[in-house]
Amino acid sequence: MTRKVAIIGVGHVGATVAHNLILNGRVDDLTLIDINEDKVKADELDFRDAMANLDYHTKLHVNDYSQLKDCEVIISAIGDIEIQKIKLDRFAEVAFTSTQVKIVAQQIKDSGFNGVLIDISNPCDIQTMIYQKITGLPATQVIGTGTLLDSARMQRAVGEALNIDPRGVHGYNLGEHGNSQFTAWSTVNVLGQPIEELAADNDDIDLDAIDHEARIGGYHVMLGKHYTNYAIAAATTRLINAVLSDANSQLPVSNYRPEFDCYLSYPAIVGRRGVVQPVDLPLTEEEQTKLAQSAAFIKGRYDAIMR
Ligand code: 2OP
Repeated sequence: MTRKVAIIGVGHVGATVAHNLILNGRVDDLTLIDINEDKVKADELDFRDAMANLDYHTKLHVNDYSQLKDCEVIISAIGDIEIQKIKLDRFAEVAFTSTQVKIVAQQIKDSGFNGVLIDISNPCDIQTMIYQKITGLPATQVIGTGTLLDSARMQRAVGEALNIDPRGVHGYNLGEHGNSQFTAWSTVNVLGQPIEELAADNDDIDLDAIDHEARIGGYHVMLGKHYTNYAIAAATTRLINAVLSDANSQLPVSNYRPEFDCYLSYPAIVGRRGVVQPVDLPLTEEEQTKLAQSAAFIKGRYDAIMR
């Protein structure tokens, strides 16, 4: 079966996702779509020039919406680099991205696409909700990368505090991919122990400082280069792989949670049809309150944009 994917918005993030997929032979057929036709055509030519020296071949298409119909996955990586340069705030882009997302969502709907739509565009939870609403796709087939990225930042910070590989840190940041997110420490295990028990006996583990670092980690990167791309592209590639290989992986992604009637990040089982099973975590009361506050924030902002 042909593994067919499209990326809409080929800026720093979209191009890095495309590079990951092409370099590692993750897809057979890749469509690149961007409003800057010169740039996206140049990217396509650059990738074609890479093919002779790569281990895999990928068929490429540019700005061809007719390819969307039979894609298994569409990625939205639409963003506004000019605004990102001046403001360290994911909401600064909201006017631009909401306008573009509404147009693109209608084009996706008109194409007859019935695969899994993955949104990276910020503010991530809001744009994911807009995509679901306008495409009319089942909520299970529309996912945002959400705090898969912020959880990785938390894993990095915990790993560095304990001098261990971040892949050995298990647990989640939950809620908005934004300032109302939090690390759900009751979910975090490392070195075979709940981290809260480990932290009680170890002054080197400052949970509040790590929570803060995970929440603002992206801003450190933005300050240096005005965008982030490698970490979000790694998270997105992992999510694409989970869908294409029908992995049924438990991942903290932005998904629809009926108890809040909105999208927010919470672990879900992700396979070929998107969210194939919800997960329920035994959160503490304090964590449940923080999650409800994050949900209320997302919903309020979404309602303000869509009314
Ligand atoms: C990130 O957190 C900016 O949302 C992007 O890297």
